[in-house]
Amino acid sequence: MQQFGVIGLSVMGKNLALNVRNHGFSVSGFSIDKPEVDAFAKYEDDKLKPCYTWEEFVNSLEKPRKILIQIMAGNPVDQTLQKLLPLLDKGDILIDGGNSNFHDTTRRFEEMEKHGIHFIGMGVSGGEEGALNGPALMPGGDEEAYNGVAPILEAIAAKTPEGRPCVSYIGPSSSGHYVKMVHNGIEYAIMQEFSEVYDILRKIAGKSNDEMSDIFAKWNNGRVHAYLTEITTNVLKQKDDLTPDHIIDHIMNIASYKGTGNWMLEDGVALGAPISVVAEAVIARFMSKATTREGKSVVWNGDVPEDLIDNLEKSLQLTQAVAYAQGFQQLTMAAKAYDWKLRYPSIAQNWEAGCIIRSSMLKDIEKAYADDKELDVLFQDPYFKELMENNIHALREVVSLAVKAGIPTPTLSASLNYLESIFNPSLPANLIQGQRDYFGAHTYLRNDREGTFHTEWYEEK
Ligand code: 6PG
Repeated sequence: MQQFGVIGLSVMGKNLALNVRNHGFSVSGFSIDKPEVDAFAKYEDDKLKPCYTWEEFVNSLEKPRKILIQIMAGNPVDQTLQKLLPLLDKGDILIDGGNSNFHDTTRRFEEMEKHGIHFIGMGVSGGEEGALNGPALMPGGDEEAYNGVAPILEAIAAKTPEGRPCVSYIGPSSSGHYVKMVHNGIEYAIMQEFSEVYDILRKIAGKSNDEMSDIFAKWNNGRVHAYLTEITTNVLKQKDDLTPDHIIDHIMNIASYKGTGNWMLEDGVALGAPISVVAEAVIARFMSKATTREGKSVVWNGDVPEDLIDNLEKSLQLTQAVAYAQGFQQLTMAAKAYDWKLRYPSIAQNWEAGCIIRSSMLKDIEKAYADDKELDVLFQDPYFKELMENNIHALREVVSLAVKAGIPTPTLSASLNYLESIFNPSLPANLIQGQRDYFGAHTYLRNDREGTFHTEWYEEK
């Protein structure tokens, strides 16, 4: 009997199955797409079994069965559950490893619970390479079911530089997929920050692709040690197959998306989470399609400040911290609203290796939340407070230079505005409250006494 099963054998499912096998567990693989099973069958050995029917697959697994569903999110997951249900036994464990919407996962978790089936919604990050050699895993559901699959998940997950696995129980119900959604919102935010810095480097500092690649490589060994820095270096230096140019200069500047970052924004709005940088990153992708492209590209004829490159590095480091801070802020608010006990240090640890947003800063975030410390805002932590104090001047310089040049910096500006606001005791919302009370008697709170107040406003004749 096989110890683990995988449904869906396209590149992610196949690589995860191989990863399980490579760690000494026996695994069965099944797909409704026969050519996928045929391709999988090439790896067949005493620990890896290709299956061609639902029955053959389910019956090949030891009980309680542990099945990873690695298929396209949405209806296919519901169809798979319907197919599986009559074949399963109480106590079996299903893991949905796709990028499912957390609302769907809540519903599926409850439905499966009624049938005595454990359902784990698990975020998987790291792409094809991660799936094979060590992804970051974010499993949510009931803890007992997690414990049943923990040995396999811990074996296949990426490891932090200290050798700790990038997987741990996230929390109940759909919290695993929620955390993956937040991961993706942060991913959108940091990617947009990189592209704005790239825009300033090429248009104001006048750097070539190779020069920019070298700058990012230096930052990767400096203040912004991160997977996204590493791949930016590689993307910028890659030559084109079809022309003598760099490929980056021939990639159409329209950003696509499958929408998981957008979902974070949707729920952020529902919760009232101030995730402005994620919002700007989502909208920047919309704008990349919506712009009419009728204008002229910026040509900067002004001075290039001597400290520009240094300021850009400091800005990227600080705005990356803001992206994480907004992610953790939404998680904190979601945990309260949905009554989840989330373990923030474990979430940071899960992201320290394997995933797209991995960076050495996550270790500092893990420390900031250590011992279950409650932080409303990451920048309350002394390390991040100091980072803000040290780098905010650089960010102000960068944003004001971009404003002068006419270069849009939606996420760099939003990061700056977040930092200018987050500890600010005198934001001007008192005027909004006065206006609301004026036109609609919506009432307001006072800063000098308890209670709710309404004013009879004098109309200026
Ligand atoms: C990951 C990624 C991945 C996601 C891609 C593309 O963690 O491995 O988040 O799950 O699908 O990044 O996302 P978009 O198509 O929305 O950019």
